[in-house]
Amino acid sequence: MWLAGNSIGKEFTVTSFGESHGKIIGVIIDGCPAGLQLSEADIQPELDNRIPRQPKIVSARIEKDIVKILSGVFNGFTTGAPICMIVENKEADSSEYDAIRNLPRPGHADYTSWKKYGGFGDFRGGGRFSGRATVALVMAGAVAKKLLRKYDVDVLAYTSSIGKVKLERQKTYEETNKNRFENAVRCPDTSCAGEMETAIIEARKQGDSLGGIIEVLIMNVPPGVGEPLFDGLDADLAKALFAIPAVKGVEFGAGFKVAELKGSENNDDFRGHEGEISTLSNNAGGVLGGISTGMPIIARIAIKPTPSIAKKQRTVNLATMEDASISVKGRHDPCIVPKAVPAVESVVAITLADHMIRTGLIQRVLEKEHE
Ligand SMILES: Cc1cc2nc3c(=O)[nH]c(=O)nc-3n(C[C@H](O)[C@H](O)[C@H](O)COP(=O)(O)O)c2cc1C
Repeated sequence: MWLAGNSIGKEFTVTSFGESHGKIIGVIIDGCPAGLQLSEADIQPELDNRIPRQPKIVSARIEKDIVKILSGVFNGFTTGAPICMIVENKEADSSEYDAIRNLPRPGHADYTSWKKYGGFGDFRGGGRFSGRATVALVMAGAVAKKLLRKYDVDVLAYTSSIGKVKLERQKTYEETNKNRFENAVRCPDTSCAGEMETAIIEARKQGDSLGGIIEVLIMNVPPGVGEPLFDGLDADLAKALFAIPAVKGVEFGAGFKVAELKGSENNDDFRGHEGEISTLSNNAGGVLGGISTGMPIIARIAIKPTPSIAKKQRTVNLATMEDASISVKGRHDPCIVPKAVPAVESVVAITLADHMIRTGLIQRVLEKEHE
C-alpha cells in the first residue's frame, strides 16, 4: 500500500518530484503570495552553492544545475498561481547500478523501497531516495528565503562536527555568516574545517564514510509563530528536517542535555526591556509550546555516515534470497554533511515561510510594498 507523501506545508505548500537518474528534478510551490519579485537569478546562486567544489570530499557527480521557472511568474513577479521549477539531470551514470540491482545496500533505502513498491521503483542512483532530490528543496528554499527576507528572517546552517572533529568554539553570528561557505565542509572555523576535510579524505581512502552534525540558527522570527498542537513550530521544523535523506536526529536548544538538567538550570528567565520581553538564556532554542519566543531558534541535526561504501558488507540477493556480499562502487559522497547544509537551510526556510504566511505576517509586508 502506498499513499502520496511528496508535499509539505499548509499554506505555502511544496511538492517535490523527479528521480536521480530520470529526466528532471522539479518542484511545485502552491500558495506563494502574488507580488514577489522573482526570476531564475534568485534561484541559481542557491543551486550553484549546493555542492562544494572540492572533488576530494564529494561524489564525482558534480552537475551544473540550471533552473527553469515554468509557471507562476509573469512580468518578473509571482502571480499567486503555482510556481513550477525544474532542473535537467545531465550527469546521470547508471552503469554501476545494474550490477547491484538485486543487492540492497545496507543503510540505504533499497530494501524498504523494494518491499513497499514491489520492485517497480526507479533504483538508478537511489531514485527518489537520492540526495539529488534535495535539488527540489533548494529551489523552493530559495523562494522561501526571498519571502522571509521581507521580514528580515535569516536562516544560517553550518557544519558543527564531522566524525569526531568538532567545532569547539561557538562562532558569532557575523563570523558564521561570513565564513561558513569559505571552505568545502561548510564550517565557520577555517582550521577546524581543514581537520574535517582530512578526516573525510582518510575515511574515503579506507573505503568508508563519515557522518556529522549540522547546526542551524534562525534569526529575527517574531514571537507568536507556530500552530499548536500538531503544527507547533518545532514539530513542523523537525518533520521537514527528517525529510532530508540521512537525517537521524533533530534537537532544539539544549536538546537531549535537558534530561540531565534541573528545572532551575534549564528554565530561561525572562527579562523586560523597552516594552519587549526576551530570555536571559536560550535552552528552549527559541520555541516554547510550539510557538516562537522571539529568541534565535537553534537546532542541531545529526546526519548519518553515507551508506554506500567500498568496504565489503553483508546483504541478501533479492532474486535468490541467498546471503551475499556487496562493495559499492560508483559516485558516492564520503560524507553527506557538506551537501546537506544547503538542504537544511532550505527546509527550514520553507517551514518558516509556511508558518509566517499562516500568521499573515509576510502578506502584510508584501501588500505594504505595493500600496
Ligand atoms: C545531499 C545528500 C547526498 C547523499 N549522497 C549519498 C551518496 O552519495 N550515497 C549514498 O549511499 N547515500 C547518500 N545520501 C543518503 C541517502 O540518500 C539516504 O541515506 C537513503 O535515502 C536512506 O534514507 P535514510 O538514511 O534517511 O534512512 C545522501 C543524502 C543527502 C541528503
